Amino acid sequence: MESKKILILGASGFIGNALYKELCNYYDTYGTYFSSRNGYTSNQQFFQYDIQEDDIFELLEEIRPTIIISALRGDFAAQIQAHQHLTEYVAKHNCKVFFLSSANVFDGYSKFPSYEYDKTLSESIYGRLKIKIENMLLRLPKRKAAILRVPMVFGNTSPRIKEMKQAIWNNDPIEVFPNLIINVTNDDKLTQQIHYLINRNKSGIYHLGSSDLVHHEDFIREVVDRIGSFNPIYKRVFTTNEERFLAVLPKDHLLPKNLQLNYQQVIDHHLVG
Ligand SMILES: NC(=O)c1ccc[n+]([C@@H]2O[C@H](COP(=O)([O-])OP(=O)(O)OC[C@H]3O[C@@H](n4cnc5c(N)ncnc54)[C@H](OP(=O)(O)O)[C@@H]3O)[C@@H](O)[C@H]2O)c1
Repeated sequence: MESKKILILGASGFIGNALYKELCNYYDTYGTYFSSRNGYTSNQQFFQYDIQEDDIFELLEEIRPTIIISALRGDFAAQIQAHQHLTEYVAKHNCKVFFLSSANVFDGYSKFPSYEYDKTLSESIYGRLKIKIENMLLRLPKRKAAILRVPMVFGNTSPRIKEMKQAIWNNDPIEVFPNLIINVTNDDKLTQQIHYLINRNKSGIYHLGSSDLVHHEDFIREVVDRIGSFNPIYKRVFTTNEERFLAVLPKDHLLPKNLQLNYQQVIDHHLVG
């Protein structure tokens, strides 16, 4: 056990929980849950936290983490306020924050994939929320914040895969975007990458996705083929006439080879189940 004390905000969620499982054997790790129960109520490492009702200062003062990982969803205005308070706390204490951001901070651009130091621009409220929080954190001393920009995350327990399986069973259409070119990742690789960044005391901006690109439609069709021999209905959604990129690639902050991945590995990860 190292002396790092980690608090994962949103530790009951898909990514937060995968991170908790990855980190808890190495660090003194705590987490928050909101509506999930799943034995969290009786687990001393877990604290209930409602972003709209609870004061994040109280939680931070009680746990006194040296590393905070933000993997939350919830009301947007409340997320902004919570991260404002979190930033103030981090500024004043021996503490650092890892923020789960998204490729959507670049959804205002469509012609190229995006790199770490490209200027962010978003047309979606979700992307703008992420940009706003990123900008708060980027005002902290550099060593105190890591911005983790993540594309769509897959994995056997991911909500995206669960939804696809559900659609297949129910004979509902699966949406695909033939014009959209993306990169992707999965929960296993993402959590290993974040573990490495924590372990090596890294800070700054990281683009944590596959190093290659794929059309959304091709990717989803291959994943479905991997789930089993089904013949689902595909709903092909064209949002623009031209091809559009939504991808975060690394240029300045490359990870070691064994922590990089390609989209085929994300597909191969989805076994029958
Ligand atoms: N999944 C992706 O493909 C993806 C891609 C890029 C970035 N991200 C980012 O990664 C982060 C985690 O995403 P995820 O997919 O793991 O989300 P998720 O599975 O929906 O988990 C969200 C977490 O936030 C908690 N939460 C929800 N409402 C809350 C509230 N009102 N107060 C306090 N906590 C609340 C949930 O608690 P309960 O479950 O207990 O209610 C859960 O722990 C998000 O910031 C997301 O933007 C995700």
